[in-house]
Amino acid sequence: MTLALHRHGPDGVPLVLLHGFPLDARMWDDVVAELPGLPVVTVDAPGFGASPRPDDVARAVGRSAEPALETYADAVAAALHEAGVDRAVVAGLSMGGYAVLALAERHRGLLAGVGLLDTKATADDDAARANRLTVAAAAESAGAAAVAPMLTQVLGATTQAERPEVVERMRSWLAAAPPVGIAWAQRAMAARPDRLFTLEDLAVPALVLRGAEDGSAPQEAASTMSAALTDAEVVVVPRAGHMSAVEAPGPVAAALRGLYERCAQGSVG
Ligand code: MLT
Repeated sequence: MTLALHRHGPDGVPLVLLHGFPLDARMWDDVVAELPGLPVVTVDAPGFGASPRPDDVARAVGRSAEPALETYADAVAAALHEAGVDRAVVAGLSMGGYAVLALAERHRGLLAGVGLLDTKATADDDAARANRLTVAAAAESAGAAAVAPMLTQVLGATTQAERPEVVERMRSWLAAAPPVGIAWAQRAMAARPDRLFTLEDLAVPALVLRGAEDGSAPQEAASTMSAALTDAEVVVVPRAGHMSAVEAPGPVAAALRGLYERCAQGSVG
């Protein structure tokens, strides 16, 4: 197995959903529940959920063990191919969006459409990169405690004030995040290049979405990506933060369905 895939709904060209850091495919459960009748595949990143450890994923796709989003993208393409999927609408939230950008660079023929949620196409600055390496090392020594401070960073102010059950769910996910996955993903994200150029000639329908209260992926990042794309719909989800799909699954599912239907009018279907 290259990566764990979770299939929902009927057969057909799927909507593939890539989760944010340091979560797993369960992040999409409430969105999937809002998408009856749509073929959906959720994926666990290397070292997360039911997917193998990153070193095993790298070996399976013939890459070095050096943490890299390119490995994740190659593994997504390989796992989908093994499942008989050679064309898909692929959407990712935050880290998942970085993987979508790597897919656009390396496996463009797979993409019938793209969704870029609460993410950005630019590389990290030196301070952000250094912080990731610190968190990676902390995960190896202290485990999931290294990501506990993310709780208030990833949830919007409205969720923190009004949705205690979402806050608790996120707290429990962070507390159970796998240290090997945390360390690998932080190093892979630290190494990622600027990939805005991959959007400039990506001639498929695109969705650029962010929670209005997202403090991690700013509006400027969304505007830059949508300006680079030829066919982008831009959606801002009110009363949601960086984890828009967890905080406001209904509006996020509606936007993803809209993306899928735009693709269906073109090459999907
Ligand atoms: C995520 O939600 O996946 C993270 O915020 C990504 C990142 O650390 O850049």
